[in-house]
Amino acid sequence: MGKHIVVIEGSPRVAKNTDRVVGAFLRGAQEAGHTTYKLSLAKNRVNGCIHCMQCGKNGYCAQKDAMEALYPELERADLVVFASPIYFWQITSQMKAAIDRLYALYMMGRFPHGDAGKQMMVFLVCGDADPAAAADAQGFFSGVFEKRLGWKNAGTLVVSGTSRPDFDLEKEGFLQRAYDLGASL
Ligand SMILES: Cc1cc2nc3c(=O)[nH]c(=O)nc-3n(C[C@H](O)[C@H](O)[C@H](O)COP(=O)(O)O)c2cc1C
Repeated sequence: MGKHIVVIEGSPRVAKNTDRVVGAFLRGAQEAGHTTYKLSLAKNRVNGCIHCMQCGKNGYCAQKDAMEALYPELERADLVVFASPIYFWQITSQMKAAIDRLYALYMMGRFPHGDAGKQMMVFLVCGDADPAAAADAQGFFSGVFEKRLGWKNAGTLVVSGTSRPDFDLEKEGFLQRAYDLGASL
């Protein structure tokens, strides 16, 4: 049976490396018959959590932005893909803001965790030729989502070397690898 796949894409740039990798992945997943939903944090502004705690009282987040549409998608997702460039050896602030806003689901008792936990994939894109530049961000996802919240990691793709002048995402096989990850689900 087809899965429902949600991608949170944390690059502020459209049509660059992270966006293209996500595009290839989505093509593979859609061709394999899965349904998909993408939140682009380049095209949609998502504010950080302001700790107002209205979610605990009202049952929904007080801030009205692209997270409103994401919450129900995420709840029904079988697989959540976090795709982020590496900024200062970590995920982007845009990605962190979206993750912090998942606190609203947590406060409403609807955060998928433990036995109800999701499958996830992590795509990280760094300028450095050494993929170790993404290690701390990988540690963030495995520490928070796998170890603390019980999600299962279904795959990690690290794209490294994007700062090289002759870097070519397609020729170096990264688009194919992303497509294959989607197609293999
Ligand atoms: C503010 C900033 C910080 C960055 N820090 C790192 C870093 O710590 N390590 C690294 O390998 N690349 C770093 N980069 C390079 C990006 O990871 C790289 O350009 C990546 O391809 C950006 O993703 P995009 O092409 O999808 O926009 C940084 C870029 C910016 C703008």
